[in-house]
Amino acid sequence: MELCVALDLPTKQENLDLINKIKEYDVWLKVGLRSYIRDGEEFLKDIKKINPDFKIFLDLKLYDIPNTMADAAESIMGLGVDMFNVHASAGKRAMKEVMDRLSKYENRPIVLAVTALTSFNEAEFGEIYENSIAKKADQFAKDAYESGLDGVVCSAYESESIKNITDKEFMTLTPGIRPFGEDAGDQQRVADVAYAKNAHVDFIVVGRPIYKSDNPALIVEKILKKL
Ligand code: C5P
Repeated sequence: MELCVALDLPTKQENLDLINKIKEYDVWLKVGLRSYIRDGEEFLKDIKKINPDFKIFLDLKLYDIPNTMADAAESIMGLGVDMFNVHASAGKRAMKEVMDRLSKYENRPIVLAVTALTSFNEAEFGEIYENSIAKKADQFAKDAYESGLDGVVCSAYESESIKNITDKEFMTLTPGIRPFGEDAGDQQRVADVAYAKNAHVDFIVVGRPIYKSDNPALIVEKILKKL
């Protein structure tokens, strides 16, 4: 299991300060919508300047018509990131087109599909998808697997079932991790590190418990010891 640190701070400088504090650790860094919209490709280069070994997960959750998604995926390919994601609800045709478009590249990034956002509770999810989170997450994962993606973004509670219906090697990346039972914030389906490990999660994403702490490096170290 690997740790992916979410860079969700309000300014580029605060994100860079956080990265500098944890630069000697073997972690992935997650660049999300806020940071990428504000700081762009330059920020990705700044990360690599601090430590070229940092792996970058570009969390833009693409959702559009198939051709637009494949075009975007190809542009992401040019950024040299190590992982990015799309929404499974964009459909199998869109996911297949993304993978087809990337197939001509030798070193394509890992591509994941978002199943159900971890901020949804059952009632909110049901209003949109008219199904339970567990059932729909399994279905989305199956769609992503059959479309040739490498894995899914899901909650730690769905990881085991998803691996059972797809493949043990099909990756799961789980946000909503509160490593040692910290405050959940807006997340609904939170799990701790031990739970994620038991569920054979491949990547845990941790944001606030690290960047809101007085000593982010210490929290990272404590989490890494538990992996
Ligand atoms: O601060 P926290 O640990 O809750 O951060 C979780 C991160 O994971 C945020 O950047 C959020 O956008 C992202 N994320 C999520 N749920 C998903 C996909 C991504 O919380 N399904």
